[in-house]
Order: sequence, then structure tokens, then C-alpha cells
Amino acid sequence: MTTSMTSIDSLLHETRRFPPSPEFVANAVATPALAAAAAKDRLGFWAEQSRELLDWHTPFTQTLDWSDAPFARWFADGRLNVAYNCLDRHVLAGNGDRIAIHWEGEPGDSRSLSYAELTAEVKKAANALAALGVTKGDRIAVYLPVIPEAVIAMLAIARLGAIHSVVFGGFSADSLRARIDDAQAKLVITADGGWRKGKVFPLKDTVDAAVEGTSVEHVLVVRRGGNDIGWTQGRDLWWHDTVGTADPEHEAEAFDAENPLFILYTSGTTGKPKGILHSSGGYLTQVAYTHKNVFDLHPESDVFWCTADIGWITGHSYVVYGPLANGATQLLYEGTPDTPHPGRWWELIEKYRVSILYAAPTAIRSLMKLGREIPDRFDLSSIRVLGSVGEPINPEAWIWYHDVVGAGTAPIVDTWWQTETGAIMISPLPGITSLKPGSAQAAVPGIEIAVVDDDGAPVPKGSGGLLVITEPWPSMARGIWGDDERFVETYWSKFAEQGYYFAGDGARIDEDGDVWLLGRVDDVMNVSGHRLSTAEIESALVSHPMVAESAVVGAYDETTGQAVVAFVILRAEHAEQHTPDEASTALRGHVASAIGAIARPREIFIVAELPKTRSGKIMRRLLRDVAEGRPIGDTTTLADPAVMRLIEQMSKAK
Ligand code: WTA
Repeated sequence: MTTSMTSIDSLLHETRRFPPSPEFVANAVATPALAAAAAKDRLGFWAEQSRELLDWHTPFTQTLDWSDAPFARWFADGRLNVAYNCLDRHVLAGNGDRIAIHWEGEPGDSRSLSYAELTAEVKKAANALAALGVTKGDRIAVYLPVIPEAVIAMLAIARLGAIHSVVFGGFSADSLRARIDDAQAKLVITADGGWRKGKVFPLKDTVDAAVEGTSVEHVLVVRRGGNDIGWTQGRDLWWHDTVGTADPEHEAEAFDAENPLFILYTSGTTGKPKGILHSSGGYLTQVAYTHKNVFDLHPESDVFWCTADIGWITGHSYVVYGPLANGATQLLYEGTPDTPHPGRWWELIEKYRVSILYAAPTAIRSLMKLGREIPDRFDLSSIRVLGSVGEPINPEAWIWYHDVVGAGTAPIVDTWWQTETGAIMISPLPGITSLKPGSAQAAVPGIEIAVVDDDGAPVPKGSGGLLVITEPWPSMARGIWGDDERFVETYWSKFAEQGYYFAGDGARIDEDGDVWLLGRVDDVMNVSGHRLSTAEIESALVSHPMVAESAVVGAYDETTGQAVVAFVILRAEHAEQHTPDEASTALRGHVASAIGAIARPREIFIVAELPKTRSGKIMRRLLRDVAEGRPIGDTTTLADPAVMRLIEQMSKAK
């Protein structure tokens, strides 16, 4: 926790407070009654939320079954259809004409789909998938740009009781293949290509390279980029031929509340990504509940925009399932914030009158760097609530977001949660909480957390410790796909005695009881709000013939929060043939093609040795000191203390 502790000092001095305005309070969705109800009867509260927010084909009578802990069952004897809850019921309630999705492509093309239209599209896709043999429990990989078909595909899969595994479109063929193999997916839904930074990036080619020799029977291809692609007769199918011609009538079948809804892979401390498994009833309950209360959603008038890619959990919970379960209108944008011009986000807010914006601190910081003249050129007066997710938002970025994007009045909800928690766990409530820039503040009503020491005892106010969740919650992960043991080991073994879920994050509780997140305590980095494991990048590096050994750390970065920095020992023959610069350039490219551009190291230091303990463990803490240009910390447990001097010299020579 060396890096985290340094951030405490500045936070301690944060004394600014932003209470909600009386006008906001007057129309607020979440009121103090919510917390009171949850405190009185937590399980009863969740049961009531679920009945109120969702439509159950067969109502449940049990709320929580924790007898097989840590494998929870929520609302287990109830039956529902997730897609029906996101679509049909809104049409049946008379809201078919309400826009579900305003979509804007990066080149400026756009499409709007009403709830009736989106429902019809999903029904067609469900019929097409069923005709391809997709049934309950099948795994389908989705590898698409942010286009309406991504949402349609996910909902069609859910409608059939099958399981989607969405893989972020920036991942490489190897990463995609590993995920297809692990889940034994029988179908991949992709596009020819998508738009990013003014260019078409190919997706179908990557899929071709990934699926050879796997369980995949068919590849369904949406035409988006218009780029040339290869075609395998019999295996590949165009979306417009298949879904385009399917029947628009499809009756949703009800499935058990615990029917799996999706697998989403996330980085852990080993090289192998974990397939986090989520199920239906509990997940949908908590994403709908948090989307409504945390963002103060008024579905008749708000336009919600979550800027996350659907390949991440934020896109699952707050692009697809939360907003659609709540019948909200939302904006979906394919491209990057700076294409074709640096004011693109602000232009979209003005064009669609976005009222709730949910974004990541890394994006906010890079927009902030460009100066307020750019947003000031646009009409952002529709904004009334702002959200932040993915990493701690530093007070400076918070204030800029509040003043420049939120006109000094829009509350900011700093939401803490994880792929594993499925939905928001810690956040202010905008009509209740007096906001503190930089703090995620308190668990949402219905959630129980604590900050504890290594023995599981709560730390006193004002101290740092480990963040744990002390009671099961509806949207909690139901396991790691195919690896129950790893699930128990990773999240539930540290505090097995107390039965706490350990999130892997450090946190501090201040004098008022508010929570400040301090970053990861394990070897997982947070780059632009995305989790990357040091081990995964290290194994990509040593897969290169030039590399003998490697160690990767996350170093502080002004824009991305953390950046990947690698230390590499070259094999002797290569060390002579290549300059460090050549080797570093080649290896940065190699990591990008092995995992994806997001994992490309910012810097690679070619070194002769790595710092190790006597038991052979790499001391990443010391490498982080080098990467961040700090004096080297305590080296007494090193097998050979002279190593660090050598590494320091080599890194300075660079
Ligand atoms: C970090 C993203 C501070 C944290 C939803 C967590 C945050 C990891 C916040 C999960 C926040 C997320 N403040 N840190 N508001 N939100 N994190 O699974 O370290 O991609 O453990 O889920 O992001 O990342 P994941």
C-alpha cells in the first residue's frame, strides 16, 4: 500500500462540503426513508425493492439462501425473464414510444430506437439465435463496438436464458480465444469493424484468428465498418441476413432467478483472467435499484449517458441492464471523446440534452487538461447529476467536473463497486448526502461494509485498512466460471472466520464515518479505470523470445491514474543484438498485440537483475519506487541489496 498511503495526506485536508440544494431535495428520488427501511429489516428491504422494481413471472417467497456460502441464492424460487423486464413490460405499460437508445456513431451517423423498436429487434435476434440452436445455459461471446446491436445481442441472449460473455473490442485475438475456450462458447457475435479515433478498426479478422479450433460453431457478423473481411462459408453469417429476416414475435420464457445471466472476465493476481459469473434476479434488482436511486432517475424526463464501453461491467450494469430495466432514455456513443474534435462529448450533451452523465476520472482528467474553453463553447445546462466510477476521483478533477460540467450545482456521485459486486455498493445519494470531493462516502442502503485491519477488526475512525463487505448482497458474483475454489480463495479466504468478502481495496474511514478509497492492495493495477494484472502482462512479456524475465508495476500517472511500467531482463544473445530502445519498442508492441492496446507499457526498463527476496519473490514495491522516481524504500529483505543500485543506475541512464 505504499502508493496509496501517499494520497492520504492531501485527502486529509479536504474540507469542502456540498449539500444538495433545496430544489434538488424537493424532487429527489431517494429520501432518508430508504436508509431507515433498510436499517430496520435488510432482507425485507431487498425483497420489497425487487418486487417494486421488477416484474416476476412467478413471485419469489424466499429472499436469501446463504446456506451454501459464499455461493448466494437470492429470490431463488422466483422466475422471471430479464429481457422482458428491460423491454416488453415498458411497451405493455404504454411507454413503447419512449426512446430507449439515442445512438451516435463516431463519424456522426445516428439512430434512435424507441422501446417498441428495441423490443422488436431483440425478439428478432432471439428468434435468429434460437434458429442457430442457442438455448438456455449456452455461452455466447460478444465482441462488438458500441453500437445498438451490442445491446440487442446481449438482451436476445438473456431472453433465451443463455449466457453472454462480452469481450471488450480492444482485446487481442489471444485474449479473445482464451475467453472463448474458458467458457466453451458456441457462437461469437461480432462486426466487420468499428470506428475509433477516425478510423475503422477490424474486429472480424481478430475473431477469425481467435476461433480456429475452438468450440465456436458460428460467427454472426454485423456490418458496421464496411471494411473488407475474410469469410468462412457455413460458419460465418451476416446479422442482416439472419436477424434481419427473423420473425419479430417472440414470447419470453421465464427462468429461475438464479439462472446465470453473464460471464465477464476480469484481471486477478495471476495471469489467467477470472470469469466472474452473475445471475438474473438479484443482479437485475440491484442494478435497477442503484440506477434509480444513485442517479436520481426520473425516467420520463431524464437522458442518461454512461460513457463506458459495454465490454466492461459498467457498460453491462449502467448501459444495458439498469437503465433499460428502469425504462430510461439513454445515449450510446461509439467513439472516443476527442474525435473528430476535442469537444465531442460536450457537443453530444448539448445535442441530446443529456441530464445525467456517468464517466471515469481518467476521461475527466484528460478533458480537464484541454482547458475549460472547450466545454464552455457548448450548452451543458441540461446536466443535473454527474457520476464517477472506476478509480478514486481526485478533488481537483472533482471540482472541475462540478464547476465546469455541472455549472457548480450538479451533485457528483462517486460510485465505488467492482465487476464482482455487479452493482454500485458505496456512493453518496444526491438528494441526501452532503458531498465531500474525493470520498465515495457511504454504503448505499441495503449494503453493509467495514474497513478492518488484517485480523478483521474494524479500524478506528481516521485510520486506513482493508475494505470488506460484511453481508451478502443481491448482485454479488455467484462464482468464477469453472473454478469455485478460486472464487473462495480469492475473495472469501482472508476473512473466512468472519465471513467477509474482501474487495482487494484499501480504504480509510474519516471522522464522520465517510469512506475514502485508497486503491488496490494486491498486484492489480488500475489503468484508466480498467483492471490489469501485473502477472498477465508479465507472462505476455516472457512469451517474447527476447525476454528472459520480467516484472510489471503500476506507476502513478497524471491522466490514467496508473500506468504500466515493465522491467525486463533480456536473454543474453538479444542483449547484445539490440539497443535498449529497440528492445523496448518491440516489446511494447508485443504486449499490445498479445493482450490489447490498453496493456501497452508506458515505459520498459531493460535491466540486468530484478529485486528478489530470498524466497525468490519479486519485490514490486521497490520497482514502483523506481518507476515513480522516488528514493528506494527498505531493501533489507532483498537477497542481494546491491541489485537496486544497479537498477536505479540503468533506469537513470535511459
Ligand atoms: C476501483 C469497475 C475508487 C477499485 C466498476 C475496484 C474505484 C476496481 C471506484 C474495480 C471509485 C472502482 N473509487 N476506486 N469510485 N470504482 N474503483 O471490476 O479499485 O473494473 O476494486 O469495476 O476499481 O474495477 P472493475
